[in-house]
Amino acid sequence: MSQTFVSVVGARPNFMKLAPLAHALAARTDVRHVVVHTGQHYDAEMSDAFFRDLDIPLPDCNLGVGSGSHAQQTAAVMQRLEPLCIETRPDVVIVYGDVNSTMAAALVAAKLGVRVAHVEAGLRSRDWSMPEEINRVVTDRVSDLLFAPSRDAVANLCAEGIGVERIHFVGNVMIDSLIAALPAARAADAPARYGVGRGRPYTLVTLHRPSNVDDPATLRRLVESLAALAADAPVLFPVHPRTRARIEALGLGPSCAAALRWLPPVPYVEMLSLTLAAGVVVTDSGGLQEETTYLGVPCVTVRAQTERPITCREGTNRLVLPDAGAIERAAADARSHRPLVPPVLERWDGHAAERMAGVLCDGARFS
Ligand code: UD1
Repeated sequence: MSQTFVSVVGARPNFMKLAPLAHALAARTDVRHVVVHTGQHYDAEMSDAFFRDLDIPLPDCNLGVGSGSHAQQTAAVMQRLEPLCIETRPDVVIVYGDVNSTMAAALVAAKLGVRVAHVEAGLRSRDWSMPEEINRVVTDRVSDLLFAPSRDAVANLCAEGIGVERIHFVGNVMIDSLIAALPAARAADAPARYGVGRGRPYTLVTLHRPSNVDDPATLRRLVESLAALAADAPVLFPVHPRTRARIEALGLGPSCAAALRWLPPVPYVEMLSLTLAAGVVVTDSGGLQEETTYLGVPCVTVRAQTERPITCREGTNRLVLPDAGAIERAAADARSHRPLVPPVLERWDGHAAERMAGVLCDGARFS
């Protein structure tokens, strides 16, 4: 019997989780897959560029919610998604990651009695000041199918009393996207465009978490650290719109432009290409912690804790606070440990989406 799945995505890190599953579902007969974009991210470089790079068909519908406070954004997704869900009557609503759109869509579906599948379930930072932690816990609580990327995520869900029959250890779908894009990323040779790479080492930076960019004193310290890093090797810094706005509001734009190579947000394949050859990556992104681990590229994560502990335990990631000198020391130490042998992590193998499609379409189980 034909099944209808509705995938709801909204923000940049959702798109690389959607792509492999969209492709796996497209290969199935008797499946209708409707993709809804909430519009949480709307700039072409934060959204359209990713659909192009990842070869995902354009969304069937865009809810156009845009930016706002957490309550406004969450409420707008809920209000606009509910009628669409009632009209479409999906068998399952599939949500991705931990952004506001994820939690809002999960709540809408659960309250309509529609089954919810959560891609990247079970990650926990145990830091309730992170909006994403609230989104993760709420989404998992109302989900019927929980697709976990790692064994620690399975353990977190079990510890919260979620029945094992709902949990599927399918592996890391971000790595599916990465493996698929590797040939294009190698061919792109993005570092050459910026005059780095091939024996000219560089540092790649991304920062956008509220904990790092919303407090002026912290942001000033971070900018000073990046300028100090730039004394050793060029710093390539694709800047998130929220970070750019904060830097400009503090009047730090000119000093950043002088010391750093700051770029607009870069598309997926270009970012992967820049990551591949970086001496070290300094970030607060979730996805980059995983990508650098898979590639064996040293990573310094500017956060007190991570919901992806496997990247520190088995991978190349280390956590550091945004204190004076700390990032420079961690980056120097991380760089001196290259080359690293990438770890072989269980079910980070490019087949997570096939497993998820098996669960959704055939009732397969992955424990
Ligand atoms: C969101 C996610 C975060 C994820 C990040 C990736 C939540 C709570 N946070 O954070 O987990 O790591 O996406 O980027 O969902 N803006 C633009 N253009 C856009 C989108 C945003 O200029 O296309 C600006 C707006 O000023 C907006 C601000 O960025 O207010 C923040 O956007 P928002 O979607 O609220 O959160 P992110 O910081 O992007």
